[in-house]
Amino acid sequence: MRRLILLVPFVFLILNCKTKPAEPTGLVTEKAMVVSAREEASKIGADILKKGGNAFDAMVATELALAVAYPFAGNLGGGGFIVYRKNDGDVGGLDYREKAPLSAHKDMYLDSLGNVIPDMSTVGATAVGVPGTVAGVMEVHQKFGSLPLKEIMQPVIDLAKRGVVVTEKQAKRLESYKERFIEVNGEYTKFALGCIPGDTIKYPNLAKTLEIIMAKGHDGFYKGEVAQKLAAFVQERDGFITEEDLAKYEAVWRQPIVFNYKNLRIISMSPPSSGGVTINQIFKMIEPYDIGDYGHNSIEAIQLFVEAARRAYADRNFFLGDPDFVQIPLDVLLSQSYLKERMADFSFDNATLSSEVSHGTVEIVESMETTHYSIVDTHGNAISATTTLNGGYGSKLYHPELGFFLNNEMDDFSAKPGVPNMFGLIGAEANSIAPEKRMLSSMTPTIVEKEGKLFMVVGTPGGSTIITAVAQTILNVHEFNLSMQEAVNAPRFHHQWLPDAVIFEPEGFSGELKNELKSKGYIINEERTPIIGKVDAIRVLEGGRLEGGADKRGDDTAVGF
Ligand code: DON
Repeated sequence: MRRLILLVPFVFLILNCKTKPAEPTGLVTEKAMVVSAREEASKIGADILKKGGNAFDAMVATELALAVAYPFAGNLGGGGFIVYRKNDGDVGGLDYREKAPLSAHKDMYLDSLGNVIPDMSTVGATAVGVPGTVAGVMEVHQKFGSLPLKEIMQPVIDLAKRGVVVTEKQAKRLESYKERFIEVNGEYTKFALGCIPGDTIKYPNLAKTLEIIMAKGHDGFYKGEVAQKLAAFVQERDGFITEEDLAKYEAVWRQPIVFNYKNLRIISMSPPSSGGVTINQIFKMIEPYDIGDYGHNSIEAIQLFVEAARRAYADRNFFLGDPDFVQIPLDVLLSQSYLKERMADFSFDNATLSSEVSHGTVEIVESMETTHYSIVDTHGNAISATTTLNGGYGSKLYHPELGFFLNNEMDDFSAKPGVPNMFGLIGAEANSIAPEKRMLSSMTPTIVEKEGKLFMVVGTPGGSTIITAVAQTILNVHEFNLSMQEAVNAPRFHHQWLPDAVIFEPEGFSGELKNELKSKGYIINEERTPIIGKVDAIRVLEGGRLEGGADKRGDDTAVGF
């Protein structure tokens, strides 16, 4: 009996070992946090929270501060999505995705022979979709903001005037894009002048545009002086955006995709982003297996994940598009029976070839040019926001007087069925171009609840790899018991149906593991080993403290108190 009593604590310990949450290794704060791609933006957002602003106020501040501090992806000339969860459990999503201009049409990027015209949807004025970011932040502020706009925007305007210090990574990026800036904007364009780490870049013209927006709100961007200058500039360069396009732009509130995975409830973005639907499919295909027992990044875990992703991306590319234009059979795509059937031919013995699911060969282009930030405020409200210009510095077209880059989001449409876009994604009719339609996105701002309480806020850039990177980060915490920071740092892999290849990050996957996968019929892309995603996330610890996960792959920083 005595022995039995002595054993009890051990048994308890063993049973609890797996479920005891990992000790935090990232920044831990008591009350509130912002994690974003630049310290300046995280700090401006966190200061708003400190002043008593809520997560929505901080979203406005952080989004606009990224437009100043991180012009690579932060923007006034692009668009994005947020998913929010208020402390009372209410959830929602905002779509401020770019739209096709009124004059757009299905074949606008094809020549007379029906071939895609190179660069037309990716470089310069012809690539630009109607920007949504300013409508997005103004909508958030109007519906949920608690501080006056001036109080939120003034620190951002001050930052633009004071300037932002160039980091090493930023200097490298600016150098590598220099030729393209010159091709699109001419020799004397602001970002082609050259700079070294430690230099300060000031943004006085951007500050002026922000002042107009601060004074006039939504209309400060979409009507009047700014709209006129923007439309004229794009049209002079053979682009399509008119003042009417700008005047008609509105952000749209949408019901997020919500599903359960084991004891988690996952809330993610609905179409026109594919993020929520695809991540839902991946998780539900994985759920019947005990992936947590296979080991982190083990061969079985990779196989299971890859096979789920292969099937989910095949559906993504065929069925998904702007829900205001196409019927998406969500009931079927997300049903248990359909997803079970999709995995029916999965086996740990051999890879399923994508050619057995469909056809085509394409190439993936490495990119990290979107940006994600996560916010939790002192009241427990959470925002997960992903915003982008699409490519790095978007279309590379920079409006010198207004002080910002314009997106090349039109490339996210399927210019021609079967022809891959810059992320190697092959689209179908559902994502063909039409006037005022929103192009399909992979952005996956996501919030996770555990046992009814806020548990994680997570998201990332990475084009087509966004969805798999977000899914792996959640699994890393929930199934493999990593801390938030460890989960973000952990090496990632990716598969997107076509091309039929598994991509691995350069570090963290052994030659032995890759050989074993090859022996099972997996095709491994070994020429290019890019980094996959830059995840910025927050985990709520027991007792309500917060752990930041700021991706070590970038200049990303968590700030809080
Ligand atoms: O919306 C999308 O899916 C893309 N425009 C995202 C682009 C992106 O993530 C580029 N950076 N990595």
